[in-house]
Amino acid sequence: MFTRRTTLSKFLIEQLKGSKESNDLAALLVDVAAAIKAISAVAAKGALEGNTGSLETVNVQGETQKPLDVLTNEIMLRHCDWGGLVAGMASEEMEEPFAIPAEYERGRYLLLFDPLDGSSNIDLNVAVGTIFSVLVHDSAQPPQLQDFLQIGKKQVAAGYAIYGPSTLLVLTVGRGTHGFTLDREIGNFILTHPNLSVPNETSEFAINTSNERFWEPPMQRYVEECKAGKTGPRERDFNMRWIASMVAEVHRILIRGGVFMYPRDSKAPNKSGRLRLLYEANPMAMLIEQAGGLASTGRGCLLEKQPEQLHQRAPVILGSRCEVERIERYHHEYDKGEDQPFVSPLFNERSLFRPEARA
Ligand code: F6P
Repeated sequence: MFTRRTTLSKFLIEQLKGSKESNDLAALLVDVAAAIKAISAVAAKGALEGNTGSLETVNVQGETQKPLDVLTNEIMLRHCDWGGLVAGMASEEMEEPFAIPAEYERGRYLLLFDPLDGSSNIDLNVAVGTIFSVLVHDSAQPPQLQDFLQIGKKQVAAGYAIYGPSTLLVLTVGRGTHGFTLDREIGNFILTHPNLSVPNETSEFAINTSNERFWEPPMQRYVEECKAGKTGPRERDFNMRWIASMVAEVHRILIRGGVFMYPRDSKAPNKSGRLRLLYEANPMAMLIEQAGGLASTGRGCLLEKQPEQLHQRAPVILGSRCEVERIERYHHEYDKGEDQPFVSPLFNERSLFRPEARA
């Protein structure tokens, strides 16, 4: 029997019908979805196409590029540069913004993306993804670098694709967060996860604890309390996950809740966190907040952080509202000198693990 399913195009037409501007936004998101289908196909081929391993080039972040970083960047550019919908693009893989070739018309949108987030996982066959953000450029002039430096609250659309056992596209145009699964047989994204909602409460956190000694005291306090579980001030056990692929962590949080943290640390003092503000942190923050969660730098709303550079990094704490609020409170208490760091029973007076006992 034929069942009527909502395709991505139908969904976007319904959500964005009206002005030429919103029709153009829908058309741009359809182009992005086409790029994502192409990326999904090359990612699924793995080593068959010789796309695993590393190149000898490094990107603007100083990270060694993978063949798929370069290829997926090219796929995003070529699917979106020709249609008269974007005024300019910026990517993790390019130092400067990409100017639309002279033979094509320019549109009113700026597209910013990380074409293959978590690419260190590609050789391991672990889920990776594409993250994108859409901003408005209201000028007939070609955009300058400064035009890309807009706060996250100005995004008109954001999303990610996750290339896992199935490929999903999760997006928002400011009216909730919705997930579409790629039906490979017919080549369409089908609405399978309407109105995703992040539960307010959670007992699951995600952070790279190998950086613990570099964190600020409020983060150390929060994670120490989670690890103490029932025996600590939280009086309940927590579970921890770390996939080292932001799309996979955010996807888990959108499906069952949790809190994801890549905080400021002193590992590289000249960098404020690890994740890039404009094309990683901001789009994920918009998706989480549209699903009822919260996104913070630890000291304020992530979506209000003013970018100063294209590839700027930012501390990211996002997910279930109550946990993000708690972490913000710990930062504020610490800044005011009013915090009460938790000392795990493992390190208390009578513990064999206390530093002097081990000396
Ligand atoms: O560069 C982004 C990223 O790969 C994220 O997808 C992921 O959350 C993080 O970096 C992993 O960082 P680390 O290697 O420090 O665990």
